[in-house]
Amino acid sequence: MTPKIELHLHLEGAAPPDFIRAMAKEKSVDLSRIFDADGGYAYRDFNHFLSVYEAATSVLTSPEDYARLTAAVLEESAAQGVVYTESFISPDFCGGGDLGAWREYLHAIGEAADRAEAAHGITLRACITPIRHFGPDRAKPIACCAAETVGDFVTGFGLAGDEMAGKPGDFAYAFDMAREAGLRLTCHAGEWGGAASVRDAVRDLRVERIGHGVQAIEDPGLVDQLAEDGITLECCPGSNVFLGVFPSWKAHPIEKLRQKGVKVTVSTDDPPFFHTTMTREYEMLAETFGWDEEVFAEVTRNALDAAFCDADTRAKIAKKLEPAA
Ligand code: ADE
Ligand code: ZN
Repeated sequence: MTPKIELHLHLEGAAPPDFIRAMAKEKSVDLSRIFDADGGYAYRDFNHFLSVYEAATSVLTSPEDYARLTAAVLEESAAQGVVYTESFISPDFCGGGDLGAWREYLHAIGEAADRAEAAHGITLRACITPIRHFGPDRAKPIACCAAETVGDFVTGFGLAGDEMAGKPGDFAYAFDMAREAGLRLTCHAGEWGGAASVRDAVRDLRVERIGHGVQAIEDPGLVDQLAEDGITLECCPGSNVFLGVFPSWKAHPIEKLRQKGVKVTVSTDDPPFFHTTMTREYEMLAETFGWDEEVFAEVTRNALDAAFCDADTRAKIAKKLEPAA
């Protein structure tokens, strides 16, 4: 199987519905409203998706729950051929922004990641995200949690949630704190907020990657700027098509952006919510745009170059990408 790198995966968003259903049952929480008749997640649109996501997350209430989640998610990613993954993890959901509680969650997640690495050969790094619609004031203690725990495992800082809530610049304080602590920066933008949102995130938060970023295609000057500055886009085409950001795979701009010299990469975002996997993303990209081994090698190299990890880890992952002799 082709070895893959995934840079954009929400930890709770990767929770299989059966996993969340079992957790809800254990805790006697009725979550039937968030599932459809086939047992998958049910939601009407993006904002409803965010609230179903938060309802699913509400049954994960202890470090042990997150350890189990991490194990389940990494086992599935490894089965898709993923050798390195970065996951968005929010201290908002792991201990409510309290630093002491966050340390306990992080410890449990890190231990589960170590076990998964030993068992399945997959490496995880954590990108800490405040939730945009919780507001800039909530983002400050989250940045504090990230800054206090930066290291080999916590390497990145981002911003998830409703892109239409406020402006990137509202979160500059949190991003400055994260940058000063040595964290690498990304931000969801240009999934819903148009090219202007991407421009604002690059200018006001000085991020080196953009989560999605695909609506930059509306502004040719911005596309050139992204290419010139080497800003990497964490593209999640299956997510965008499922949520209706673009009407079809054919209409997705990932190939146009690549042709313009923008560094694109491929991720699943919240795979069970969008009925996708890394394997399916690859299959659809091959089918829709004729991507071949060479193109997949290029996007994997982009992902490796843009990964928020240290040089030793990058070298270790590079070895796993080499064709078997
Ligand atoms: N949180 C989980 N998935 C997300 C997405 N696609 N955009 C913004 N926030 C998210
Ligand atoms: Zn996302």
